[in-house]
Amino acid sequence: MWALAAKFILVAVATILYCFLVIVESAKLQTFAAEYGPFNETSYDIFEVIRPATISNGALQVTPDSASSDFEIGYRSGRILLKQRFKLWEEHASQPQLASFNTSFLFNVYRLSNDTAVEGLAFIIAPNLLLPPGSAGQFLGLTNTMEDTSDTNRYVAVELDAYEDYFDPDGNHVGIDVNNIKSIKTEYLDLHNITIAPIGMFKFYNLWVDYDGLNKVIDVYIAEQLEKNGSTPPKPGSPILSADLDLREHVNQYAYLGFSASTGTEGQLNSVLRWNLTVQHFSDSGKELDKWMKIMLGGGLVVLVLVFAVGFGYRYHKLRVAAPSSDLVGALKCLPATPREFKFKDLKKATSSFDEKNKLGQGGFGMVYRGMLVKENMEIAVKLLSRENIKGQHDFLSELTIINRLRHKHLVKLLGWCHKKGKLLLVYEYMPNGSLDKHLFIGPNKEPLEWNVRYKIISGVASALHYLHNEYDQKVVHRDLKASNIMLDSDFNAQLGDFGLARALDNGRTSCAEAEGVLGTLGYIAPECFLTGKATRQSDIYAFGAVLLEVVCGQRPGTRIAGFPFLVDWVWLLHRDGKLLEAVDQRLGDNYTIEEANRLLLLGLACSHPDAGERPRTQSILQIISGAMPVPNVPPFKPAFIWPAGGPMDMDSVITVSITTSDFV
Ligand SMILES: *[C@@H]1O[C@H](CO)[C@@H](O)[C@H](O)[C@H]1NC(C)=O
Repeated sequence: MWALAAKFILVAVATILYCFLVIVESAKLQTFAAEYGPFNETSYDIFEVIRPATISNGALQVTPDSASSDFEIGYRSGRILLKQRFKLWEEHASQPQLASFNTSFLFNVYRLSNDTAVEGLAFIIAPNLLLPPGSAGQFLGLTNTMEDTSDTNRYVAVELDAYEDYFDPDGNHVGIDVNNIKSIKTEYLDLHNITIAPIGMFKFYNLWVDYDGLNKVIDVYIAEQLEKNGSTPPKPGSPILSADLDLREHVNQYAYLGFSASTGTEGQLNSVLRWNLTVQHFSDSGKELDKWMKIMLGGGLVVLVLVFAVGFGYRYHKLRVAAPSSDLVGALKCLPATPREFKFKDLKKATSSFDEKNKLGQGGFGMVYRGMLVKENMEIAVKLLSRENIKGQHDFLSELTIINRLRHKHLVKLLGWCHKKGKLLLVYEYMPNGSLDKHLFIGPNKEPLEWNVRYKIISGVASALHYLHNEYDQKVVHRDLKASNIMLDSDFNAQLGDFGLARALDNGRTSCAEAEGVLGTLGYIAPECFLTGKATRQSDIYAFGAVLLEVVCGQRPGTRIAGFPFLVDWVWLLHRDGKLLEAVDQRLGDNYTIEEANRLLLLGLACSHPDAGERPRTQSILQIISGAMPVPNVPPFKPAFIWPAGGPMDMDSVITVSITTSDFV
């Protein structure tokens, strides 16, 4: 009995000590330190990206960049903020205490027009994760006409302003803004040989903002970084701008850190490529602490009661911690509903031990066999993935989960999977008519695909793409759209296959030029992909354009005609010369509808626009195909590929890359 009492006291003391520790801990300053960049899709988890801001091309695009944005560039504002909030001062402390922070970021502002750059980029301490409406143009995404100069704004920012508004000193300055778009202090950057947005070139600058909470001083430093991926330049010895600033008077106690930017009439790209942040902030106390106290005390009480009630009769059992199943099979088994696990033995039997004669073809990530499940009297296609292709198991799984949830009448259905001896097999519906390319490029004595079948296939692919891009809650990029991935069912309806796999298997890195080799797929790859290596919805549209032309012309995208390296260039020439219909597959003779052919060819060219931002989206594509919308206006000359997107590319390398790619052909 005495032992029991002793243990009881021990537990009580421990509980009280623990509560005390929590209280002490929470009153202390805490250090938050992080280095961000290059940015990618996972950055969306950490950052609140307020549209039209995006993360693309490895950078925070605080206003739209043309390559991957669904938005116009001009007259926009955006914000990208760290989702985590910081407590920047302590109210009840005996003497007011203020947090300190140091931050530095690499940025690039690219002017789109030779005359003017508009407008600017800012580092911001914001009260919330919102973007003020109407904050485009002169307001840099910081405030708007209604709120400007009002103390309810609750922001402090360091602006990099590339445009001279009536309240600005010039069109190339750095300034400190306190709840007012007219800076409290500015410095001319011309005096320091710095041009935020130089004409016709990319410049990268590193900006440091240091806030000393003890002395209540903000210091700003800037230095040029010669290359995007070069080393950070040394921090200059003295600040370019310095001001006394009591943050407590101007920003909320709990605030957010990040970037804000805007464009005006001409537009510019505002990208942040890397960001380091160290904040000495206060941990949550006050109400939060009360809550924690209650939880701790309540928890302690419950523990005590339990300890009492149960007594100490139990021996200590080592808890068996269920190891999170990193096992591929285990996780596959958890996939919801439909896809089932097949027995290897059944698949082997179905395909006659993966017999040569059952080979349907080499897909992107493994050999595909035809099979017959005798019991169910069902034909299947079995894809045998080679193990070495599966790089990131988790990526693969998450992708497979998505693929499994996608249901659309123009997407090939995944029936199930099987795992055996390190081999992963995926089982799909069997498509009796094989892949589209087999029907387009046939020998001269076979009947060519009829026009209305071609039209039906195109509209099927377009609707599948629209579904992937928009209708499913997680936007999916196909990444490997090409004729050999378009399967045909018994009625020659298009069924898109292999969607999502490219990313699942290649970890997203090389997805633009996937495993099969660049040669076979070159004509399907959007020009910006060679620079970014990243598949986007726009690059899917580019590939769709290539498929479209391929289906209408009966030629592979990489076919060299009349000296042009790609089919699209030849078609564009015919368009310029007003002879577009000459591009239609010769084998069709007159058996096609002129108006429809014209429509599809122009749509194919529009989708092949070198500027990703100019390509139509799936919604318009569907409407154009159905005739509900007029065909897009296609310029007579194929526009040159320019690369303003994202900025972090220098022009020299663009040219090199383009030359290299045409050398392939
Ligand atoms: C961030 O910090 C790392 C490590 O201290 C440094 O190498 C890098 O240059 C910093 N980057 C920026 C943008 O300041």
